Amino acid sequence: MRKLVLLWCLASSSSHPVEEIIGTWSSPPHNVPSKGVPDGPLIGNGRLGGVLGWHSESEHPSVDLHLGHNGFFAAPSGGASSCGYSAGGRKALAGLTLEFPGLAGAQMMAQQLAANGTALIMLKVGSARALTLSAFIHATEDVLVVELHGGLSTEVLVTLWTFSGCHGPPRPPVSPSTRVAQGGAPVSKTTGATSDRLPSQVLAGEKELRVARGNGWPFQATYFPVRWFGLSATLGGDPGSSSFTDVEAMGRCGPELFLRGPCAKGTWRPKEGDGWLAVRLGRWPLMEKPQFSSLMPLAELRATHWASWTNFWERSFICIHDSAVTMFHWYMSQYLLRISSWHGPAPGLFGPFVVDDEVVWSGDITLNYNAEAVYYNAGAANHLEAKRDEETQQSQAFEPYFQAILDFIPAARRMAAELYPNCPDSLAFPAHLLPEGVQVPGVGRGDLGQKQMGLFAAVPFILYWRYTGSLAFAERALPFLNGVARFWECNLVAGEDAYLHDAEDCAEEICLPDGDVQPDPTVVLSLLPGFFQTLAEMTELLDPERARHGDAGAPASASALQQLARRVAPYATEEVDGAQVVADFYGGESAHGRELRLHAGGSVAWGGLFAAFPLGTVHRRSRKEEIELVHRSLVRFFKQWPGGKQGNSFPHAFAAAARVGWFDGLLEVWESYLTNTSDPKCRLYSNGMVLGCGGTGLENVGGAAFASEMLLSTAGGVLEVFPAPLDTVAAFRLRAPGPLLVTAQMAPGHHVTEIELELPTPSEEPSVVRTDWLVQSPWPGQDVLVNGQVTNVGADGLFRVFLTDREVVRITGAKRVERERERA
Ligand SMILES: *[C@@H]1O[C@H](CO)[C@@H](O)[C@H](O)[C@H]1NC(C)=O
Ligand SMILES: *[C@@H]1O[C@H](CO)[C@@H](O)[C@H](O)[C@H]1NC(C)=O
Repeated sequence: MRKLVLLWCLASSSSHPVEEIIGTWSSPPHNVPSKGVPDGPLIGNGRLGGVLGWHSESEHPSVDLHLGHNGFFAAPSGGASSCGYSAGGRKALAGLTLEFPGLAGAQMMAQQLAANGTALIMLKVGSARALTLSAFIHATEDVLVVELHGGLSTEVLVTLWTFSGCHGPPRPPVSPSTRVAQGGAPVSKTTGATSDRLPSQVLAGEKELRVARGNGWPFQATYFPVRWFGLSATLGGDPGSSSFTDVEAMGRCGPELFLRGPCAKGTWRPKEGDGWLAVRLGRWPLMEKPQFSSLMPLAELRATHWASWTNFWERSFICIHDSAVTMFHWYMSQYLLRISSWHGPAPGLFGPFVVDDEVVWSGDITLNYNAEAVYYNAGAANHLEAKRDEETQQSQAFEPYFQAILDFIPAARRMAAELYPNCPDSLAFPAHLLPEGVQVPGVGRGDLGQKQMGLFAAVPFILYWRYTGSLAFAERALPFLNGVARFWECNLVAGEDAYLHDAEDCAEEICLPDGDVQPDPTVVLSLLPGFFQTLAEMTELLDPERARHGDAGAPASASALQQLARRVAPYATEEVDGAQVVADFYGGESAHGRELRLHAGGSVAWGGLFAAFPLGTVHRRSRKEEIELVHRSLVRFFKQWPGGKQGNSFPHAFAAAARVGWFDGLLEVWESYLTNTSDPKCRLYSNGMVLGCGGTGLENVGGAAFASEMLLSTAGGVLEVFPAPLDTVAAFRLRAPGPLLVTAQMAPGHHVTEIELELPTPSEEPSVVRTDWLVQSPWPGQDVLVNGQVTNVGADGLFRVFLTDREVVRITGAKRVERERERA
């Protein structure tokens, strides 16, 4: 039925909507390389990433493939930096350049295919297509495959280069260039252990071009696992064309490419223009020999890559027939999530697409919303619970993030002891981290006194728990959540109103520029109840006997945690333009303060967003006064920021509005945000990245939650399909917290034709699953048939459904009259 639902919605020849999700470029991207989000085609496997750029006007048409890795950041160090560039932080890794001297004047076009994680570049000379280059980074292996097709014999100059990090030759210099004699032994070059930049080495031979960049100097190896990240390029195909000729190792890769370090060059003559080249990634300790895993045959690489992507796209779907840009954004967001966060170290602000040594904010894991927002839609899109990868023990979207947070616990404990000595056993997180328990250097430890980091860092944990109910996960998360709970138990103060207040804070940095103390930020008040409630649930299930003994450091009992959840202060409000709205912080905002904050890039008017999303306490089934308060706050937000164009709000504003049922004109505003290309900072790139007017990018994949919220709601524990007033053909298969899998379809006129509910396939791990559901009937005045049986529908339109393992429950509406006629 699922396939049928889709075909019916698509009304096209594709069998899955993702087949039509293709980013296209008719001219070269502008921001490759870039210190921010690149705008070229993106490929990757969730840790290793590639960005394509190309030049068609020159004598030699050429294609650059910049490669980055989530785990490639300079070893944290005091003082040591790469020739003046900031110490620590993510750095560019290396790249591959292919030049086509025989195709001078070729026109070039490019595509990014979400369906199978492939980028294509078409080179055309005159009117005939001359050559197609296709590139993919294998979905699970660390290998980049570049294939050439076209039957046109052409020579390809291949350069594999490392990144130098800065202008000018390294000191001490590397000897400029050495050729390999025909049939001769490979030659190599290295910047050496005392270089003023990160170590690099190259090797050039007829069978292999190889480069490596170290993530630190040998002297750092005593306190950090300093490693080489190496790339080895080999040619596939028949032996006659699988060797490079005119091979050369260069200490400096040409004067014009000043940011490139040593490189290895060779000429590739693919037989009749058809051939393939593989670039494998290896990682090995600084003082050891290079290590690369063996290479599968091309057919096997292609087949396993394809199988992984097919499995990925089968886990969920949406179809909104009339909104092509929503479809593009939703699918590309899942694509970007898969290629940025799947195995190994967690992505930062730019995912693995770090193609400069000085990317902004060090490309770090920013905890005051960016890192978490990446996962806002991962639960609904069902990207959890995939079979575990044998080798890496990781294979779902959240895993790299979880590991980064858990690895940071020892440092968070130290930070709490230093900054909050009165809160023993608590955890305090900074705003900026890197994987492997590393804090970004050069950032003030207190982060302006923002207290929300650990709490916000818990959001993906809470979402994962709601969408899986996995007890093994709860057990793993508990030490982190308990430490954050201790922090808040200790920092919250009971006010005269008997509620718990966050008396001293700096919400989302808006204490800048005047250093205000800001009590009760909405972001904190909105997350605390869900946080304490989640921890209470986990505690009750894992440790039902646990009681509070009163001694410092003992975790709170489940009932004490529930008590805390209930006592969190209500949102502070203020009057703006005669309307009562959620305040950005308690205590009111003077006109002067507001002006200053707007001037500083302004997070003004955010408050109402957090009240509803990502966890919030207000939703479409809340009390009327609460909903109206958030509605007014949304009106204020969109008035303050026309089109919703505020620097950090893209993943929040639209989803928040959908969650409280504020749909008036919302889809149109969303569509014009994404289709409008006139503001270079607030736009959707062809590769699916949204620049949310704030200069970063990966977090905006979380904006896909908006479409999911339009299609499915579980607000107040009631399941409702198509809560948004869409008047189009639509269908979806999404996961709901519970967990539950929901498939539904709708015809124009908001005519829901069918709903299917099923529990997720039982995993080996024990989990808590809700089996008793309340559903809002989408068929007012009609009978509801659950598996063909008429069911009781209350006056409020609600009915109950009970689910069991492996059973799909089918729900339809039936006109009473018709059934009576049938009976007659
Ligand atoms: C992905 O699909 C495109 C278009 O069908 C095809 O040209 C390309 O070879 C495919 N890539 C892989 C790795 O299968
Ligand atoms: C496009 O965006 C610009 C800049 O945000 C804005 O001024 C303009 O009104 C927008 N155009 C449309 C048609 O929405």
